[in-house]
Amino acid sequence: MKNIYITTAIPYVNGMPHIGHAMDYCLADVCARYHRMLGDNVRFQAGTDEHGNKIDLKARELGISVQEYVDNNAKKFQEFIDKLGVEYTDFVRTTDDAHVRRVQEIWQKLSGHIYKASYEGWYCTGCERYVTEKECEENHGVCPDHQKPYERLSEENYYFRIADFKEKIREAILSNEMLILPDYRRIEMLKLLDESPDVSISRPVSQLKWGVPVPGDESQVMYVWLDALANYITVLGYPDSDISDWWPASAEFVGKDILRFHAIIWPAMLLGLSLPLPRTLVSHGFILANGQKMSKSVGNVVDPVEVLDKYGLDAFRYYFLRHVDTFSDGDFTWEKYDTAYANELANDLGNLVQRLATLASKNDIKLDKRAPSELPIEYRELMDAYEYARAFDFAWDKVQKINRDIDEAKPWSLAKKGEVEKLQECMTGLICDLLDANEMLMPFLPTACEKIKAIFADPIVPPETPLFPKQ
Ligand code: MSP
Repeated sequence: MKNIYITTAIPYVNGMPHIGHAMDYCLADVCARYHRMLGDNVRFQAGTDEHGNKIDLKARELGISVQEYVDNNAKKFQEFIDKLGVEYTDFVRTTDDAHVRRVQEIWQKLSGHIYKASYEGWYCTGCERYVTEKECEENHGVCPDHQKPYERLSEENYYFRIADFKEKIREAILSNEMLILPDYRRIEMLKLLDESPDVSISRPVSQLKWGVPVPGDESQVMYVWLDALANYITVLGYPDSDISDWWPASAEFVGKDILRFHAIIWPAMLLGLSLPLPRTLVSHGFILANGQKMSKSVGNVVDPVEVLDKYGLDAFRYYFLRHVDTFSDGDFTWEKYDTAYANELANDLGNLVQRLATLASKNDIKLDKRAPSELPIEYRELMDAYEYARAFDFAWDKVQKINRDIDEAKPWSLAKKGEVEKLQECMTGLICDLLDANEMLMPFLPTACEKIKAIFADPIVPPETPLFPKQ
């Protein structure tokens, strides 16, 4: 039994939950459920990133206080995570008093690697970061992610000397002490690390009001990323308490756009604090809408709550965990979603459960008390490599095979002919195979799998309504 700490990126609360946010939670939740199934102790953090100009601006636009604005939105994110069936253990808000105080202590601990200097450069408020001259030129002065022109800013800031840690970070990435997945992103990060300058970690109060004050300098406020990254350890109680039972994290789940912060600034902070680096950074792709990046201006943003409400939680998790590869971009269209629900979830699994349970209860089939099968090695390997969509496929292949087996074995004709023993043997074989597949599906479709377990208990009771009703 191991202690496993899993983290998710904390979303900015300047808007409503987005379908993309669901990816961090769904993937991390699969990881958590899988480890609980193996008997590990799991601690699972989620939270909200509540500082920065974007949030301040949005509250002003609405004419309400920033605190009221972040309180309202943090609640919506929490409700959203609950709706996704995510079993997190800790929730952190970067405006929590304890977090703010701990981040200030972290700053002080890092002070040997912090210096003050003036800087002029191109800044994107959407990304909350400066870009290089080269990047600005390549993007023709407009941030491709936020469709906003970069601003020319000149300020006196505090800097974090990344140079002090580059060598150690490079070694940790090369040796997989901090494993970056997928591998092509690891190579990208090594290149970025080489080019990475020291980072500005504060802004003058005149430029950024809504943030954590720099200890000992009232004229400066901390850069949001320093504040946000620290959440993974402040939520465990650092530096007030010993976090070594849980830290280093086993896996940190982040989107591809923010991997760079987690692969460079974050390890530099940890090394500056003499803490170990996370064991794995799992970087997932983006969800596109009909092959296109979702954006408010294009008007193609998919509301995750609408998707969840259409067929329920299992259907949502089914689509985003099986039809979206863990590491690559995935696509959402209502058509694909409807087809996956009707043809796969309702047909392959829902009908199978219905058929087997009805036949079993009509013919009074009793399951032998048998020890549950071990999880297949192929499945374990895929799950351990965070290849969740592929592990899901592996389990689904078993479901499809049972569908073929049942058509071949024709238990209904055995029943008609009164071949009781053969029928008993055939049905227990099929049901046991289904229960084995069900175990593998448990981290992905927890609600449906619990129902299936209950259906095939003693006595076997077919569901009154189909598991996945036709719409
Ligand atoms: N606040 C920072 C994260 C700080 S973590 C210390 C942030 N917030 S965010 O709201 O912009 O993004 C939160 C997460 O959602 C990130 O992992 C991001 O990659 C993910 N996604 C946002 N849009 C996405 C898609 N369209 N598709 C998949 N995930 C994407 O960055």
